[in-house]
Amino acid sequence: MKKTNSFHGYCVLMTFCMLLLVARSQLTSDFYKTTCPNLLSIVRKEVQSAIKTEMRMAASLLRLHFHDCFVNGCDASILLDGSDGEKFAGPNLNSARGFEVIDQIKSSVESACSGVVSCADILAIAARDSVLLVSSNRFLWVDLGIILSGGPSWKVLLGRRDALVANQTGANNGLPSPFETLDEIINKFANVGLNVTDVVSLSGGHTIGLARCVTFNNRLFNFSGTGAADSTMDTSMASDLENLCPVNGDGNKTTALDRNSTDLFDNHYFQNLLNGKGLLSSDQLLFSNSTTIIKTLVQSYSATSALFFADFASSMIKMGNITPLTGSSGQIRNNCRVVNS
Ligand code: HEM
Ligand SMILES: *[C@@H]1O[C@H](CO)[C@@H](O)[C@H](O)[C@H]1NC(C)=O
Ligand SMILES: *[C@@H]1O[C@H](CO)[C@@H](O)[C@H](O)[C@H]1NC(C)=O
Ligand SMILES: *[C@@H]1O[C@H](CO)[C@@H](O)[C@H](O)[C@H]1NC(C)=O
Ligand SMILES: *[C@@H]1O[C@H](CO)[C@@H](O)[C@H](O)[C@H]1NC(C)=O
Ligand SMILES: *[C@@H]1O[C@H](CO)[C@@H](O)[C@H](O)[C@H]1NC(C)=O
Ligand SMILES: *[C@@H]1O[C@H](CO)[C@@H](O)[C@H](O)[C@H]1NC(C)=O
Repeated sequence: MKKTNSFHGYCVLMTFCMLLLVARSQLTSDFYKTTCPNLLSIVRKEVQSAIKTEMRMAASLLRLHFHDCFVNGCDASILLDGSDGEKFAGPNLNSARGFEVIDQIKSSVESACSGVVSCADILAIAARDSVLLVSSNRFLWVDLGIILSGGPSWKVLLGRRDALVANQTGANNGLPSPFETLDEIINKFANVGLNVTDVVSLSGGHTIGLARCVTFNNRLFNFSGTGAADSTMDTSMASDLENLCPVNGDGNKTTALDRNSTDLFDNHYFQNLLNGKGLLSSDQLLFSNSTTIIKTLVQSYSATSALFFADFASSMIKMGNITPLTGSSGQIRNNCRVVNS
């Protein structure tokens, strides 16, 4: 009798704990199962078509989700037009891109299931698909439904709703800058609930995409008043970059964040750091001026891409969980660029 009672008590406690867990992580992978059953294949098809047109778009879409989530949570606040919006914040101005592709995805999604899928969820799915598909340079196979991928994938959690406001100040203050110290960057991640493992694995997003001269030319010619390039940068890379980005040159010119393999989602970003070939100051600091924990992570990821992929996937899920609007908060925007009237 006593045994039954305590077993019963244990069950009640278990149920209670499980309910708590469900209440805490409100996003679910099958959120649109009945309301928009083809959502994932619609987004996949649009992302595939966009990066077939321009491979860099995969990088741009991944970054949009990151820049969305770090500002008021993953709520599509970055997509709102207007001069007081996040698009005009320093980290995004002349930099964030892919908005037309999001519009295209949204319009295809609306044709299939009107008024139910949030722009914030579209950003999360598009980021996942970008990482998966950019690795696949053989689109013929992708068209046949076979993905020859070296890139990670994960189950995207869904159920986010769209913000009613943008937060330009939040974007200026909350997004990390390439000129900050590692401690400052770690703090910005900690502010949104991400730890140093997340800092390192997510920095690996720089295995794809481009950066403008203005984001790293402080490391060339006269770094910190030394009269020379940043000594942690490989010397032949420094002279290449000095040619690309001369003093008083076009600061908008771009170059690969991962000079080894721009369009492949792989672990070469971390191998580059071991060789002084990180592009941004914030990249190279992970290896050249960091703690043992961080340096060890960089070394592990550079040695074992499976480890990088696994950590990247779980950090992306964590990032996608940053304070979403759920339930009846916010709205489902009709047009990702404007709040519904
Ligand atoms: C750790 C702090 C980070 C800093 C300081 C940083 C900074 C930057 C900068 C300066 C650029 C180039 C922007 C331009 O040229 O206008 C860039 C590009 C990019 N970032 Fe980051 N980033 C960070 C973290 C991340 C994270 C967490 C992700 C995603 C997981 C990410 C994904 C990207 C991608 C994919 C690009 C290339 C975008 C394109 O080609 O359109 N970054 N980042
Ligand atoms: C904007 O973001 C800041 C954090 O940088 C936050 O304190 C503030 O409440 C946000 N404002 C709005 C309107 O969401
Ligand atoms: C290197 O790290 C130390 C300790 O975190 C920090 O005080 C210093 O500013 C860093 N140097 C650079 C160039 O970021
Ligand atoms: C960061 O958090 C993850 C779980 O989200 C955990 O596995 C990892 O060990 C943490 N890293 C550090 C350095 O605490
Ligand atoms: C490098 O920067 C320092 C400090 O900003 C300055 O005094 C010096 O003149 C610069 N050197 C060159 C060669 O431009
Ligand atoms: C980059 O291009 C933008 C838009 O074309 C322009 O407004 C800006 O001044 C340029 N920036 C630099 C550093 O040349
Ligand atoms: C990229 O790295 C691999 C392995 O480290 C190397 O074999 C290859 O030559 C590199 N490619 C480029 C373009 O740097």
